[in-house]
Amino acid sequence: MISTTSEILAPKTQKIKANSNDQPLITKQLFWRLFRSQAPQFIIKPQNKKIIYSIFRYFLQLPDFNEYGVIKNKADLDKGLLVYGDYGVGKSTLFDAIHEVGKTIVTKTQNTQLWFPRISTIHMLHQYYESQKNPGSNFKLENYYRGKLYLDDLGKEDKAYNREEIIGKLLFERHHQKLKTFVTTNENPSAVAARYGNHIGDRLPEMFNIIKWEGKSWRE
Ligand SMILES: Nc1ncnc2c1ncn2[C@@H]1O[C@H](COP(=O)(O)OP(=O)(O)O)[C@@H](O)[C@H]1O
Ligand SMILES: [Mg+2]
Repeated sequence: MISTTSEILAPKTQKIKANSNDQPLITKQLFWRLFRSQAPQFIIKPQNKKIIYSIFRYFLQLPDFNEYGVIKNKADLDKGLLVYGDYGVGKSTLFDAIHEVGKTIVTKTQNTQLWFPRISTIHMLHQYYESQKNPGSNFKLENYYRGKLYLDDLGKEDKAYNREEIIGKLLFERHHQKLKTFVTTNENPSAVAARYGNHIGDRLPEMFNIIKWEGKSWRE
């Protein structure tokens, strides 16, 4: 297992600058320390390290985050991330760990750089159904039309009442508002486009840095 910060993130330069909210950038040292305590069992090996380090660099807002070339469309720190590919390679585990790191940092320092809420599409659909049945529910799809968001398992959910693509609607709104969305899914971009329609499909490259993650499942 690789455990030195220099190899992990080795950016050639890391200028100290303020991000969009005028917060100091989270350092790679702090990030790595928290990631390791959050996910001590998470193995980084030659087969997965380029993808994982690119995603770390993206969250650390390092301009050279695509040095390994894992993003085939135009890489841009202002877009979100769409990570798709084989089942069991560690997509959800990685984003969950980053989510927890972000939560720790925001709780201790109020720095929101790495903070984002997370929800799976299936859970969102459950909550949507609950809210339709129960007027006292405080769930509203519109509550997700703001801020950052990590959506797990895109495409695994059913259509609401067999007709409405609420996740398609959510993606469309979030694109419109130029909000950063992080998506993990087993569906490739063409399947995402086929499911939600070309008005979503055509926008995927401008909305996301798209990463294909292939590999052997850890579940085997
Ligand atoms: N890098 C890793 N090192 C060790 N175990 C891992 C790693 N990535 C994933 N796993 C384990 O493999 C299982 C599947 O990972 P998961 O993140 O759910 O895959 P995916 O979301 O890509 O389908 C989980 O139980 C997880 O703990
Ligand atoms: Mg997953």
